[in-house]
Amino acid sequence: MRYVYLIFFFVVVAAISVLGFRGSKFTKPPIEVFDDMDRMPKYHPQAESAFFSDSRTDRLPVPGTVARGTFFEDEYMATGKKGDSFGSGFPIEVDEQAMARGEERYNIYCTVCHGAAGDGQGRTASYGMTAISNLVAPPYLDMPEGELYHYIVNGSRSGRMYPYKDKLSVEDRWNVVLYLRALQRAANGSSADLTPAVKEELGL
Ligand code: HEC
Repeated sequence: MRYVYLIFFFVVVAAISVLGFRGSKFTKPPIEVFDDMDRMPKYHPQAESAFFSDSRTDRLPVPGTVARGTFFEDEYMATGKKGDSFGSGFPIEVDEQAMARGEERYNIYCTVCHGAAGDGQGRTASYGMTAISNLVAPPYLDMPEGELYHYIVNGSRSGRMYPYKDKLSVEDRWNVVLYLRALQRAANGSSADLTPAVKEELGL
């Protein structure tokens, strides 16, 4: 009989401990037998640091650090500059593939403002955005490729257009510049651009 009471007692204790506290809230953290590395002696972003003299946990990169994927031995390719001035020409392979890629990227990132033809008449113009550069007119026609590249990387001179360096890889920026050149040709074509066969057909 003693065992029956004992078993009954343990069943009651077990039932209360499992069911009795359901829904209760505890203000103290639970006892951790193994903490599973829930808490680590590490710094959280933008937290205060007792270790560094400027009290910041976020450290600046060591001077001269080059982020992965951003190092280009060809300075012109990376910056659009040759020495102190903007350079001309394309540091990428100019072929149909580059042109197609440039067209695709341009239509994703630029058309909304500069228009599919590059004339500054994009969707945003009809919503009241003003002074969007017409990229198929002077001064952009004679602008060196490196300078067009530079504005894609750094934004426009007046700062009204944001930089696109985070959206476009180095190659893609050049692809877009290439496509811009094609848009400029298309917008400023003359009969001199026609092949002799087409000229003859049109009687020119
Ligand atoms: C949100 C609208 C918007 C988008 C998207 C946009 N631009 Fe612009 N862009 C502008 C405006 C506005 C200006 C004129 C800025 C100024 O006057 O400083 C401009 C100016 C420029 C200029 C001339 C910069 C100068 O200082 O003369 C170039 C080149 C250019 N954009 C290229 C591009 C290319 C290439 C893309 C796509 C990768 C692009 N833009 C996407 C709004 C845009």
